[in-house]
Amino acid sequence: MSADPSAPVLRVAPSILSADFAVLGEAVAKVEPVVDWLHLDVMDGHFVPNLSLGPPVVSSLRERSGLFFDTHLMITDPDRYLEPFRDAGSDGCTVHVEVGNTEAHCAQMRDLGLRVGLAANPDTPFAAIEPYLGLVDMVLCMTVFPGFAGQSFIVDVLPKVRQVRRAVSAGGFDVDVEVDGGLDEHTVSGAAGSGANVFVAGSAVFGRSDPVAAVKGILAAARDASGSVMGGPS
Ligand code: DX5
Ligand code: ZN
Repeated sequence: MSADPSAPVLRVAPSILSADFAVLGEAVAKVEPVVDWLHLDVMDGHFVPNLSLGPPVVSSLRERSGLFFDTHLMITDPDRYLEPFRDAGSDGCTVHVEVGNTEAHCAQMRDLGLRVGLAANPDTPFAAIEPYLGLVDMVLCMTVFPGFAGQSFIVDVLPKVRQVRRAVSAGGFDVDVEVDGGLDEHTVSGAAGSGANVFVAGSAVFGRSDPVAAVKGILAAARDASGSVMGGPS
């Protein structure tokens, strides 16, 4: 099958939430040769019932890694933290549409030079994201309720993934469609087949004895399902 040059780049973004935080730098170094994005999950104990990491961790990782830092802000007040994350080394930030003030958050990210991401929880409809498609670089469809790694993939989100991809294509927007939660070499097929092109995986990468093989397996399954081109280092 010949690759379609206009097809979106497929990539796996490993989530460090499932890595051993005592040796985080080593965990990231292990996958660095086979990915170009790293997914950083930020939780505030308010928007989600859990706490994770803040700008100091991003800054320490920045010293050691050249990966694109895809920073997922599961927090109620992103406006207070976008600049600190940018300064710490985040390349892109993703805010949740459920926290409101979306237009202002998008503008703030753009002004800060961040790549602009907008996330929606599994039960948030496409209609909530649609008005912002022209303002963002990426839409993140959560395939679990945010807060914890290791949950089961919610297949009911796939029609929304399809809606997002269709609207992005129809509108001629250059927007990535990311999925996050419960992804592995099996569940990625449905997501890729529905039009997602960025696949976040935590436990299916850092929870495995061979994270490099795990990344390759997820990417191969995604390619098979989408019939699209693979991007990033191989
Ligand atoms: C969930 C986080 C995810 C999580 C993914 O709140 O946003 O990024 O780390 O972990 P897995 O792949 O284990 O579901
Ligand atoms: Zn995430």
